[in-house]
Amino acid sequence: MAHEITGGKRIAWAGREMPVVHKLAKRFSVARPFEGKRITCCLHLTTETANLAVALQSGGAQVALCASNPLSTQDDVVAWLNTQEGIEAHGVRGDTREDYYARIDRALSFRPHLVIDDGADLVTRVHTLFPEMADGIVAGLEETTTGVIRLRAMAEDNELPFPMIAVNDADTKHLFDNRYGTGQSTLDGILRATNILLSGKTFVVAGYGWCGRGIAMRAQGMGAKVVVTEIDAVKALEAHADGFQVAPMKEVIRQADIVVTVTGCKDVVTVEMLQEAKEGVLLANSGHFDCEIAVAHLQEVAGEGVPVRNEVKAYTLPNGPTIHLISEGRLVNLAAAEGHPASVMDLSFATQALTSVWAIQNAGSLRPNGKNSVVEVPDSVVDEVATLKLEASGISIDTLTPEQVAYLTGWEEGTS
Ligand SMILES: NC(=O)c1ccc[n+]([C@@H]2O[C@H](COP(=O)([O-])OP(=O)(O)OC[C@H]3O[C@@H](n4cnc5c(N)ncnc54)[C@H](O)[C@@H]3O)[C@@H](O)[C@H]2O)c1
Repeated sequence: MAHEITGGKRIAWAGREMPVVHKLAKRFSVARPFEGKRITCCLHLTTETANLAVALQSGGAQVALCASNPLSTQDDVVAWLNTQEGIEAHGVRGDTREDYYARIDRALSFRPHLVIDDGADLVTRVHTLFPEMADGIVAGLEETTTGVIRLRAMAEDNELPFPMIAVNDADTKHLFDNRYGTGQSTLDGILRATNILLSGKTFVVAGYGWCGRGIAMRAQGMGAKVVVTEIDAVKALEAHADGFQVAPMKEVIRQADIVVTVTGCKDVVTVEMLQEAKEGVLLANSGHFDCEIAVAHLQEVAGEGVPVRNEVKAYTLPNGPTIHLISEGRLVNLAAAEGHPASVMDLSFATQALTSVWAIQNAGSLRPNGKNSVVEVPDSVVDEVATLKLEASGISIDTLTPEQVAYLTGWEEGTS
């Protein structure tokens, strides 16, 4: 079957689980909130992203897409997107670093009015290489935790080229996507890559943030003995209270069968730690960048590695164990599986779509002090996305009576 036909079928399959994005697409096709606007999206080029692109295009936007990771691109999705009027997509799975950035530049040469980024590579590219483009961009939206951290650092240094909206921080994003999406799809990636039994294995999760707690919860559910590593005292206590063993990485790596990093930090697993690891240990990363496991140093010490399965390479350390690294230490859920299930991306991308409308409509007020900063998604967007998802799921909830509203907003009533 031709590439674009398989892509189209898979996109339609994902679309069945994205009722909110579809509802918004219908609404947009009447209201045309993006008429005459160009939107560049640097996102994982997956079936779910294709559904978002179609929704934006239905609202009158011209859309250019490029990948936010060289290993997450689904080539059949790119082929299908390139058959659609008003949409162009740039990305090939396994792109080199140079090609990866060249495609971002290509999608930027479209001269967007609005950008959607995932990890802040596109925004930093505008800032460092194409500063003249910034004036034409009313705002950007950021999809992930690592991107928001980078953008806040840029804002702190007065280096942000335009206002950025922290979509990751919206409750309809990180509470579901990072926790349930990453939780399930990270295990999916590890299992597709290795076909191992999780039951009875010692499974180390580095980082007990939104993603880490999702992974820990799902690994425990499949019978693994989960150990958490942390650097934050409160998060470590939460992991302990949730019933997980907590220990430093350099200690726990001796007993680990599987280690997954999901911290947004670098050098969480180093070669020195790996010298002490158990023979055959499996390593995977689900954090945004491929620096959480010190892969470059591992390759310096142990060579290029030997492919042992499609997504697994074996590295033997001199006088040390053999390490099995999945998907080169890149986002395992996207590189070795298909990323988050569509139902969770429905929430993330509905939040992106409605925030895009809000950003276009409020372009004039996004720089209150004349300075570019990282802006929160408005509550109205979060409420609407959650309400639409409940409706689509056939779930009703209670509403407050006027007396309850008065009670909740007053101070007079106390102990009776
Ligand atoms: N795989 C995916 O599809 C996916 C989805 C969403 C987010 N992400 C990425 O996953 C990473 C984590 O995101 P999050 O939303 O869970 O962030 P978070 O801020 O909620 O959690 C990160 C946790 O890691 C801890 N941490 C930091 N450095 C550490 C270290 N050296 N050792 C142990 N723990 C450490 C922090 O204290 C924090 O609790 C980010 O890079 C984010 O962009 C990936």
